[in-house]
Amino acid sequence: MPSSPELPPSTPLPLASPTKSPRVARLRPVIAIDGPAGAGKSTLAAHLARRFGFLNLETGAMYRALALKAIESDLDFDEEAPLLALTHQTTIALEPHRDGNRVLLDKVDVSRRIREPDVTAAASRISIHSHLRAWMVAQQRALGQAGGVVMEGRDIGTEVFPDAEVKIFLDAAPEVRGSRRFQQNSIVPITTAPPDAQTEAAILRDLQERDARDRNRADSPLRPAPDANIIDSTSLTLEQVLARSEEIVRTHLPL
Ligand code: DC
Repeated sequence: MPSSPELPPSTPLPLASPTKSPRVARLRPVIAIDGPAGAGKSTLAAHLARRFGFLNLETGAMYRALALKAIESDLDFDEEAPLLALTHQTTIALEPHRDGNRVLLDKVDVSRRIREPDVTAAASRISIHSHLRAWMVAQQRALGQAGGVVMEGRDIGTEVFPDAEVKIFLDAAPEVRGSRRFQQNSIVPITTAPPDAQTEAAILRDLQERDARDRNRADSPLRPAPDANIIDSTSLTLEQVLARSEEIVRTHLPL
């Protein structure tokens, strides 16, 4: 499986403006998948990538990787300037694989570590900072500029690729997302989280806190792009979500 190009910190960022879409003609389309935490975006993105032969890029993993470095550097997540300085000494690479991304932070595989609760909380907090987001957006545009990618996150259809050929916004009621996360965690327990942080109520509380940060931040708040196809999976099975999404992709792309 091809790996995505790694961008060293000295590489000039390909686009000056984080709010404009790149004007480079793409060889292949971009499928943008956005939505709140726990909606099932990663499962959907991995499925569509396999189905249509695209690369799957999880942008949340990039925020998580930088958050991990901020933890290791003992930085304050609310202070943007030191976090931004950190980006200049950081390389993050995503290697798309069949079931998800291998994530390299400064060439070290952190794929598992970034899923732990301290990193999840830190990623949510650092992602409100505008300049830091601009750095992420520029890297994500560079990764997806040739197209042929399913890119998943919160702002792909609105900011990273507002000209994406296909946009899906996957949503579900918070209680349903919390309950699904709880089921997942009971199959693969998070050993580093204390038991009282793993109850269904605690998971729902945590999810709603991150939702509020995603939806209310000043820069690129989580919202569907005007031309996004919205799927509310509250009362849908996984199979129904996948079938509906495939149908949307086929409608928009000459596959
Ligand atoms: O999708 P995720 O849970 O792995 O994302 C981790 C955090 O990164 C999440 O709290 C919101 C943030 N994020 C973002 O702000 N924009 C993106 N495109 C992807 C993730």
